[in-house]
Amino acid sequence: MTSHPILQLGDPALRVVAEPITPAEVASGEVPALIDDLIETMRNANGAGLAATQIGVHRRVVVMEVTSNPRYPYKPPLPLTVAINPKIEPLDDEMVDINEGCLSVPLRGNVSRHVNIRVRYLDRDGVAHDEIKRGLTAGTWQHECDHLDGRLITDRADPASLATWAEFEQHHRDAFIERITTFVERVGS
Ligand code: NI
Repeated sequence: MTSHPILQLGDPALRVVAEPITPAEVASGEVPALIDDLIETMRNANGAGLAATQIGVHRRVVVMEVTSNPRYPYKPPLPLTVAINPKIEPLDDEMVDINEGCLSVPLRGNVSRHVNIRVRYLDRDGVAHDEIKRGLTAGTWQHECDHLDGRLITDRADPASLATWAEFEQHHRDAFIERITTFVERVGS
């Protein structure tokens, strides 16, 4: 397992649309090693998720995990999830503004996300999953899958909401946590 440098906003490689992983590749040496490196890199940086794109590998795989995360203390727990070739389908029109950060972006900003989504993906053993995700967990899925299409939070955020982490902490954190805690209690994730 190797922790990799994470590409930063402005790196053209973050804009590349990633290629699907074939079923034969799922079990081959390179993809399992890539997944191990993604997990190591995400944990090392206290991220809630990481896409292969962010370490410059243009293949469709993301990892997500939320335990007690100092970057996002309000996020509900999300067990370690590996999603190969993930596909997202919104289930309805319900949206929520989530203040998001990203390991590739030095800013946070409010992004409008679907509250209820269906996700289909392969796990690291090649087993197919078809699941419903809601709330902040659904937001994390949408954020990570955006990376695989070369999209960043700065593309989607309300421009007036963009803030450095320090300014977010000082001016916006309390109101956001109050709003999002109420939301998480209502939605359950
Ligand atoms: Ni990100």
